[in-house]
Amino acid sequence: MYVGVDYYPEHWPESMMEEDMKGIVGLGANLIRIGEFAWHKMESHEGNFDFSYFDKVIAKAKANGLKVMFGTPTATFPAWLAKKHPSILSQDELGHVRAFGGRRQYCFNSLVYREYSYRITTKLVNHYANEETIIAWQFDNELGHEGSDMCYCSQCHERFQHYLERTYETIEQLNERYGTIFWGQTYNDFSEIPMPTPTVTTHNPTLKLDWARFRSFSVNDYTDYMLAGITAEKGEHQLLTTNVSGGFFDKWFDHERNVRSLDFVSYDNYPVWGGLQKPIPPAAIALTHDFNRGLLGKNYWIVEQLMGAQGHNIIGYLPRPNQAKMWSYQAFAHGCTDMLYFRWRGMTKGAEQFCFGVVDQDNVYGRKYKEVQTVFHDIKPYEHVLQSPIEADIAVLYDYDNIWSWRGQQQSENFDFNQEILRGYEGFYQYNAHMDVIPVSRDFTAYKVLVVPVMQIIDEALSERFQHFVENGGTIIFTFRAGLKDRDNNIHFGKSLPCLISDLAGIEIDETESLLGDCTSPITGTRGTSALTVWRDMITPKTAEVLYTHDDAFYKGKAAVTKNQFGKGTVYYLGGGVEKNIVMDIAKEVLVEKQIYHVETPEGLEVYRRNVGNQTYDVVCNHTEEQIAFDGETYAPYESKIREK
Ligand code: GAL
Repeated sequence: MYVGVDYYPEHWPESMMEEDMKGIVGLGANLIRIGEFAWHKMESHEGNFDFSYFDKVIAKAKANGLKVMFGTPTATFPAWLAKKHPSILSQDELGHVRAFGGRRQYCFNSLVYREYSYRITTKLVNHYANEETIIAWQFDNELGHEGSDMCYCSQCHERFQHYLERTYETIEQLNERYGTIFWGQTYNDFSEIPMPTPTVTTHNPTLKLDWARFRSFSVNDYTDYMLAGITAEKGEHQLLTTNVSGGFFDKWFDHERNVRSLDFVSYDNYPVWGGLQKPIPPAAIALTHDFNRGLLGKNYWIVEQLMGAQGHNIIGYLPRPNQAKMWSYQAFAHGCTDMLYFRWRGMTKGAEQFCFGVVDQDNVYGRKYKEVQTVFHDIKPYEHVLQSPIEADIAVLYDYDNIWSWRGQQQSENFDFNQEILRGYEGFYQYNAHMDVIPVSRDFTAYKVLVVPVMQIIDEALSERFQHFVENGGTIIFTFRAGLKDRDNNIHFGKSLPCLISDLAGIEIDETESLLGDCTSPITGTRGTSALTVWRDMITPKTAEVLYTHDDAFYKGKAAVTKNQFGKGTVYYLGGGVEKNIVMDIAKEVLVEKQIYHVETPEGLEVYRRNVGNQTYDVVCNHTEEQIAFDGETYAPYESKIREK
């Protein structure tokens, strides 16, 4: 098992390196991650490749018994390159060129950037191919993060038009599928097609979705190209990864497609960042872990785990004593096998002066240092638990096409995909049930339950897969807007909503309304009264049982939440943004009926079960600032531990 810190020795005088390494070893660490922003340190002038500084770092690491994960440095290119080739700089939607400074300002479609970044990367990897101390390469850093996956430069425009030509072959095909007859937008040639930059009103929805797919293609294509280079040069003993950042559903690339050729997925776990007054909810953090485990369908690493407060210009919440440890345990529970803390020491200069590390500017090995020591010490005996695979009977499905379709047309200003996927996930999370968060393209036949939030793009093939799943006894929970659109992002014609799953759900939707601002809509049902936010569907049940009905003057009695038997299976439909207790009720019913392992715990106490052969372990995390009693034990605020059952 590897544990350690992200270490940037180049930020400090060389004379400090020995003492730093000793301090890192004192944590109980055996791995450092280095190098990912140090291009200039390796090629200070064009073609002057010099790895001697890192030779020294590696020699020192080796002398101290530390292994190394090396980050390839393409997330920050040198100033000389931007000066010589300004075309590598990406542009925002108004055509403003992103200045040198900051980071990740390269255009994924710049051929010049490809050439230079490929050259430094392959030279670096080749230089260290036989270095036993380097056990893994991290490609780039947080691809697409901080808005860097979007660019509207002329290189992107031209490549977009070629991408469309490859996809549609003829301009007539594209016109037909886009419906460009509307507003007289018919194109005579692919070279006439715009990027969706600001215009009067809004762009064609299919164009917007294709632009998103093209952005994804751009990131994936650059990644493939670079990974092929690294793979060709690296030593066989060296593994390959890249680090996934938070906010992955808000990005313009398909993460699952991006990681396919990696040995393992790495995630950067920051439950609180920047100006946040408090951490994101425990369920939301858990979902990020299940998403990352779902990318390759196996356990993963965390290569940046926060320890101190973080922020660029605004600093937010300070993790309380033991809270960062508890977040580490939560990650271990959900499938993290190896962990690095960000970062060894906060830097007194540069844009991340307020991204605090294990050690602060006083260079004293204080409270946070000791907390990391405890994590490394306490977790090591459980390596076999962390390595064991996680079995889940429930899959929460997402689809980037669908997410981008929503992004292009939000429909309700209160709509947020992150909130809607969490709404579905949270019901089961409250019962500590295992879930996989996976793309809809993945084979889901072996699961017992599918949670399918706001899946507005459903085509014939997907509807058949759903039907097959339910016929064979599966349970699906759909939420509002399911089945509205086809793969071209056009609305299905001549079918009742929810299109293509109407029979499955046993309902027809007569009318719909988006709930704006603080608008809520009353419903009444099995648990008394409740209210919808974001959206509401007015439903006529065909074969479905009604769980909740609308309770306003005009739609009183129309169904809002339903349950249908179909074949051997069951389909729930939630026709709006329902409150948590409704999802929890349904989750409970499903867990019991399907005999899926779950346990009821006090609010804020997460108990995640891991099975290793016949042995059972519970990873317990108290997410609250209160003491909690459970199952004969008392947990202090933010306490975390593993209990052998
Ligand atoms: C991460 C990033 C690091 C550092 C850190 C600060 O997103 O990968 O390089 O910026 O945030 O919290």
